[in-house]
Amino acid sequence: MTILEVKDLHLSFQSHGKKVAALCGVNLTLKTHETLGIVGESGSGKSALVKALLKLHPSDVTCQGEIWYKGVNITGFTDKEMQKIRGKEIGMIFQDPMSSLNPTLTVGFQIAEGFLRHNPKATKKEGQEKALKLLNAVGIADPVMRLGSYPHTLSGGMRQRVMIAIALAASPSLLIADEATTALDVTVQAQILDLMQKLQKDKSTIFITHDLSVAAGFCDRIIVMYAGQIVEDAPARQLFSNPQHSYTKRLLQSIPPLDEKEEAATCPL
Ligand SMILES: Nc1ncnc2c1ncn2[C@@H]1O[C@H](COP(=O)(O)OP(=O)(O)O)[C@@H](O)[C@H]1O
Ligand SMILES: [Mg+2]
Repeated sequence: MTILEVKDLHLSFQSHGKKVAALCGVNLTLKTHETLGIVGESGSGKSALVKALLKLHPSDVTCQGEIWYKGVNITGFTDKEMQKIRGKEIGMIFQDPMSSLNPTLTVGFQIAEGFLRHNPKATKKEGQEKALKLLNAVGIADPVMRLGSYPHTLSGGMRQRVMIAIALAASPSLLIADEATTALDVTVQAQILDLMQKLQKDKSTIFITHDLSVAAGFCDRIIVMYAGQIVEDAPARQLFSNPQHSYTKRLLQSIPPLDEKEEAATCPL
């Protein structure tokens, strides 16, 4: 079954009176329960693509093409119609939790809010119970106490866990993580990836990263973006063993081989 289909998507921004193309004819299909990686250098259009799916762009953006979600063409959806998709159908985790979390509201409130918005008949108490359950699920220690914490009192890793809890609050079918682990140190990144791997079992996932080796360990299929276009789309294994596009080959060459890392680790200097 296909959950998402993007057909010939073009998107351009207005910048200093000029049109700047960010996406130039993107086509992609995501199957239900599939984990799709999107890799590519900074500025290649990864965020523009996933923001277009949720219509999160500024109003002066020009967008052409079609977006189908669960067999429905959502391309012409109004902002009001999109509210039912955002969070409830498609949950999003951004790179920078500090700018996405509200510093004036407790963690428990922000998670409960995501749940209550899409479950209007639920009580505030049920919202708090859901928040507690999610804090547990994302591995936050002492979740009862943390319900009342403000974002600035949490570590980067904990904030990112809270972001995941918020994204999961309305039980979306599709989870999109846009560079969700990029700002974290390697150990915390591994913990968050491990958590996402557990959580993604009954979901479809789009995982954006500029780090091909991270995508390889996590995704079924990988799309490589370059200058607003998809230059390669292949199962993760195949992409590594038999890359087709010269840009993918260059990306692969930039990953240090394991023995080189080991050499560096034992370097007498
Ligand atoms: N709000 C914006 N206004 C103007 N140009 C933008 C805006 N957001 C992104 N762009 C441009 O669109 C292109 C793709 O950006 P983006 O999708 O953010 O790349 P990535 O996520 O792969 O790093 C870049 O050339 C970027 O400069
Ligand atoms: Mg980006």
